Amino acid sequence: MTRRLVLGALAAAVRNLQGQTATEAAANEDFWFAARMAFTVDRNLLNFNNGSVCPAPKVVQEAMERYWTVTNLSPSHYVDELLLPETEVIREELAREFGCSPEELALTRNTSEGLHAVILGLDLKPGDEVVTTTQDYPSMFSSLDQRAEREGIVVKKFAYPTPPKDPQQLFDLFFANVGPKTRAILVSHMTFTTGQIFPVGAICREARRRGIYSIVDGAHSFAHLVFRRDDIDCDFYSTSLHKWLTAPVGTGFLYMRRELIPRVWPLLGVPAAMKANIRKFESIGTAPVAMRNAVADALAFHRGLGALRKQERLRYLRRRWEGALRGVDRVKLLNADSPEQSCGIGALGVDGIRAEQLTATLLNKFKIHVRTRVMPGEFECIRVTPNIYASLEDVDRFSRAITTIARG
Ligand SMILES: Cc1ncc(COP(=O)(O)O)c(C=O)c1O
Repeated sequence: MTRRLVLGALAAAVRNLQGQTATEAAANEDFWFAARMAFTVDRNLLNFNNGSVCPAPKVVQEAMERYWTVTNLSPSHYVDELLLPETEVIREELAREFGCSPEELALTRNTSEGLHAVILGLDLKPGDEVVTTTQDYPSMFSSLDQRAEREGIVVKKFAYPTPPKDPQQLFDLFFANVGPKTRAILVSHMTFTTGQIFPVGAICREARRRGIYSIVDGAHSFAHLVFRRDDIDCDFYSTSLHKWLTAPVGTGFLYMRRELIPRVWPLLGVPAAMKANIRKFESIGTAPVAMRNAVADALAFHRGLGALRKQERLRYLRRRWEGALRGVDRVKLLNADSPEQSCGIGALGVDGIRAEQLTATLLNKFKIHVRTRVMPGEFECIRVTPNIYASLEDVDRFSRAITTIARG
């Protein structure tokens, strides 16, 4: 009953938007109130770390529970005969959303699984170079470093100003670091540190022109930014659906340009007949499927809200807290404000306070959860990622907390 009321309110709220632009809808509190009520979050603790994992709305939680109940009716029968074949629909729908063929999309458990598969599965010779930035995700460096140690590939990381001057500066820095031995570049669509948006389309197109593979870390961009595969034009893209799509934890996808599939070795060996089949990256043995089947419900929720409206709301929330804190003594905002460089993720530091300390104070004194990001030798900050279930009061509570801390 409660669920029906919440969904009914949400449907009515969508209807009430009546021709509003996404920017107008971003500021429509009635609409976002209905969306907020679809989540079962602890409202006594402000979760401003959705960048790590997002909670799923109640409808998605319930879908996953139903699939788990079905699984337990008779796991081998119901999973093999019913639930697994259904995941082909999920592949198709995610491919439609991303703008690729379903035959180019593997269902994974997260961004890491997809990226490690590509990083470890590409044929690279000793001396071949992979270029990336110091603000790419550290666990990807582990696979790259393992290849460097084991096979002698060279990993080149470059630092860039935070925030950068403009997207062109990021593009130029990438290609200033690319050389004749560069075989691949690894670039975050949005970084895990400050949420910096990279001009991935321009970077991937230039990489292809030079015969270099482009690997895009899309952990934060899918269902956060509105874009299609053709806009970013990459060779490989991996994302986590438990981030901005608000799907169950342990869901993701890996996109691979079709002609490249036979060239990438899967982490777990498969029969030769699967060499050109994207499903070779899904061959991980027996694994739970309940969360994967519930991706359909997360997608339905996302589409119902409207991808563009959601993007603009996330941007609106960031701009609200940043606007309140801009100019506050000692507060340093670390991300650029322009739409091509930032969306819902922001980052800040307070002069004289270590980021770790700031995170602890926010939690212990103000019951606000954020994530610390430390880039040794570059900067440290707290990353701030409210989601659409945050109210304006929540966001203002955060700004007041930072102001109080900064004023000592
Ligand atoms: C940029 C980036 N890449 C990759 C990951 C890894 O995501 P997952 O743990 O879901 O695989 C994260 C996680 O926060 C991230 O921020």
